Amino acid sequence: MTTSSSTIESTLIENRVFPPPESLARTARIAGMEAYHALCAEAEKDYEGFWARLAREHLQWTRPFTRTLDATNAPFYQWFADGELNASANCLDKHMGTPTENKTALIFEADDGSVTRVSYKELLARVSQFANALKALGVNKGDRVLIYMPMSIEGVVAMQACARIGATHSVVFGGFSAKAVHERIIDAGAVAVITANYQMRGGKELPLKSIIDEALAMGGCECVRNVLVYQRTATPCAMVAGRDTTFDEALAGQSSVCPPVSVGAEHPLFVLYTSGSTGKPKGVQHSTGGYLLWAKVTMEWTFDIRPEDVFWCTADIGWITGHTYVAYGPLAAGATQIVFEGVPTYPNAARFWQMIERHKCSVFYTAPTAIRSLIKAADTDAAVHPSRFDLSSLRILGSVGEPINPEAWMWYYKNVGGERCPIVDTFWQTETGGHVITPLPGATPLVPGSCTLPLPGIMAAIVDEVGNDIPNGVGGILVIKRPWPSMIRTIWGDPERFKKSYFPEELKGYYLAGDGAVRSADRGYFRITGRIDDVLNVSGHRMGTMEIESALVAKTDLVAEAAVVGRPDDVTGEAICAFVVLKRPLPKGEEAHQIANELRNWVAKEIGPIAKPKDIRFGENLPKTRSGKIMRRLLRSIARGEAITQDTSTLENPAILEQLAQSN
Ligand code: WT7
Repeated sequence: MTTSSSTIESTLIENRVFPPPESLARTARIAGMEAYHALCAEAEKDYEGFWARLAREHLQWTRPFTRTLDATNAPFYQWFADGELNASANCLDKHMGTPTENKTALIFEADDGSVTRVSYKELLARVSQFANALKALGVNKGDRVLIYMPMSIEGVVAMQACARIGATHSVVFGGFSAKAVHERIIDAGAVAVITANYQMRGGKELPLKSIIDEALAMGGCECVRNVLVYQRTATPCAMVAGRDTTFDEALAGQSSVCPPVSVGAEHPLFVLYTSGSTGKPKGVQHSTGGYLLWAKVTMEWTFDIRPEDVFWCTADIGWITGHTYVAYGPLAAGATQIVFEGVPTYPNAARFWQMIERHKCSVFYTAPTAIRSLIKAADTDAAVHPSRFDLSSLRILGSVGEPINPEAWMWYYKNVGGERCPIVDTFWQTETGGHVITPLPGATPLVPGSCTLPLPGIMAAIVDEVGNDIPNGVGGILVIKRPWPSMIRTIWGDPERFKKSYFPEELKGYYLAGDGAVRSADRGYFRITGRIDDVLNVSGHRMGTMEIESALVAKTDLVAEAAVVGRPDDVTGEAICAFVVLKRPLPKGEEAHQIANELRNWVAKEIGPIAKPKDIRFGENLPKTRSGKIMRRLLRSIARGEAITQDTSTLENPAILEQLAQSN
């Protein structure tokens, strides 16, 4: 583990401070910093008691837990382990017989703008019917189900239906390739796949089912007995007799009543694959009790969610944000939420603003990449500027997935929030299950570009390489010192990798987030300075450099060697830059251009379009030390277009730097 130079820089100078609006400071769930500090103090004083209180207040248990935290097998921590509950019952059944039952749970807006509403009562019936269909296919408690669905009511229903019968879902984002799906089906040992014939994005019909067919044809997927197909569009797709069933066929005759299966609090609710520092994605395993608890609590603390709110998290259900803040949190909190199928730029870059106006959205949660691309669009076309729309329904804004630069923050604050709405810059990860460091809208004075302070109960700190605390103002390694209920439980099928990745021995048993951070000298606010491992963040999506390298060298007829690094990008945050040595003479001009495109398409096939390198540079070799180690720090400088100022004395082949620098 190394600390990159960017994590050692001192605090960014940011003088602007935005206190919470007076109304929120008075009425929010956590109103004022004193209330925040009181909760932190409660957690400090009696850590387990604090979490036990929340778990009793926020969840309905079919069997109450008697033990809060079990650390006997650390770092495989268990929370509320002898308690039993069902996640779907805590999202749906619990609202029955309350005023929420007839309230709209989901406002679905399709790519073409058509809108469908589903009440909590209807959603429960649909989830139950789907759960019965899964049972009829022989899907049981503990089985894994792979979900490869567009953003849809049906996608949320599929996830909730799995939870209802105790099946563990593994959602794969619809942008991943057949190969990526194949790898995940095998790793998870999925017994069934839930997909759609096509998905609609930006007016285009994109295949999903044929990608599943391709994945299953790659072999080794004998575990999959059934494929369930949602007919999203009228276009037919191939169906394999005996294996594939349409939703309509599967649901026909199934009752819309299905008793939820009680599971232990530690029962795996889902496994979600994410990128790490090696070529193989990690199946992040989450629990039922601890995970759902934090999904619900953070909806109330971070978003101050109220019965009259219209919540909109723009993330896809294929990412953790779409799990916690689409499929579970808003439902557990009884909120009305918008689910959007399409993309922010179709039919034009005003789509988000139009939808906020149309549905009177009050809490809006999106990624800095989206904001930056919409800023660009509004700069060139006044018709898509947010000022053209009535956004007065908004009261809280959120940001997630990557650092938000102060310029984008200010634009979001002024032009979208009308200088009335606090921005909660939520720092968290697939592994943390929910927010860990974030402002509270009715308490925390905001500083643009800072995710401010840890939530009560989250013992975040900045330490050096051996786990010693580092003073404010100095960069270091972000850790969480104590386990918390919504944390990752293990890496599916690889407990050793779990230990090594997140609890390295030298860090005193602290959870290693994988990010560098610095706390401001004045307020102790956290600012995330970026990953300290070989993981890039492109448009708020995690990509392992090794994964892309493996994909490139898998093109064995063309590629001899490849190294991938990140460089800053105005819109996507980071961009992927690949340095490639070919098994043929160095290409120039048009030929280089063609080969680069061929390689981009290859990576899209191997992993998915999100992993396509933006820059591809060719060289006859890569900069290496005499022992043959690739010097990535030099590649990073070249990728950024910077002059090489680092020490190159250990470099075996200095001439290569010039060649690579000119290869763009
Ligand atoms: C990585 C986690 C958070 C859920 C979606 C992404 C970066 C995330 C922030 C933020 C600065 C952030 C970190 C983190 N990140 N949120 N508010 N400020 N950086 O989840 O794919 O697991 O990625 O995203 O680098 O480690 P993920």
